Amino acid sequence: MKIHYFGHSTFALSDKEHAIIIDPFIKGNPHMRGRSLPADLHFSHILLTHGHSDHAGDCESLAKNHGAVIVANFELAALLAQKGLKTHACALGGKLEFPWGWARQVPAIHSSSYNGQYAGVAVGYVINIGGFTIYHAGDTCLFGDMALIGRRYKIDAALLPIGGNFTMDIEEAVEAVAMLKPKYVVPMHYNTMPIMRLDPQEFKSQAEAASQAQVRIMQAGDIWEL
Ligand code: NI
Ligand code: MN
Repeated sequence: MKIHYFGHSTFALSDKEHAIIIDPFIKGNPHMRGRSLPADLHFSHILLTHGHSDHAGDCESLAKNHGAVIVANFELAALLAQKGLKTHACALGGKLEFPWGWARQVPAIHSSSYNGQYAGVAVGYVINIGGFTIYHAGDTCLFGDMALIGRRYKIDAALLPIGGNFTMDIEEAVEAVAMLKPKYVVPMHYNTMPIMRLDPQEFKSQAEAASQAQVRIMQAGDIWEL
């Protein structure tokens, strides 16, 4: 199973046969300036944590180009279905089975709108693909039920926002790692705007000192094979 990072909160997950992308933000993503998505990735599904443009900005064009199904909560899926896109609507708690594995929508504490329209709640996902369990936290603050997620799932890699202002910062994300108990952590949602400027090495040293997890800092374009 491979984790492909495109900066901010945009990740693709692939096994030998399938590929999915989470929170596609390509155009306008400073980490992707001068880059494009690899042509060999063909996405069957696009998972959205919420409708903000730095997470859902490229979902319409990708869904059309790849013939992909967009997975989102009910309200966001309804807005996208109105545009003629293929969607799989669900709600928190829903465990969805796919040809590549499964995904369960779990809470995130944040807001959600799409092009200025109300888009339901923000979510995270626990995803199983290629035998690995990945937790994408979406945009969220620290919340106590991360301990429940950590108890319910043996997380191989937790993808956690650390940039602050709109999400957890380093201090809060270190506590999240202690609750989630993942094997690996990949920090996300930082150094995209001046307001979320930081050194991810600082998160790495603090999180590794406070937990058993290993922090893997990825750059846009990096591929990590688990
Ligand atoms: Ni957001
Ligand atoms: Mn965001």
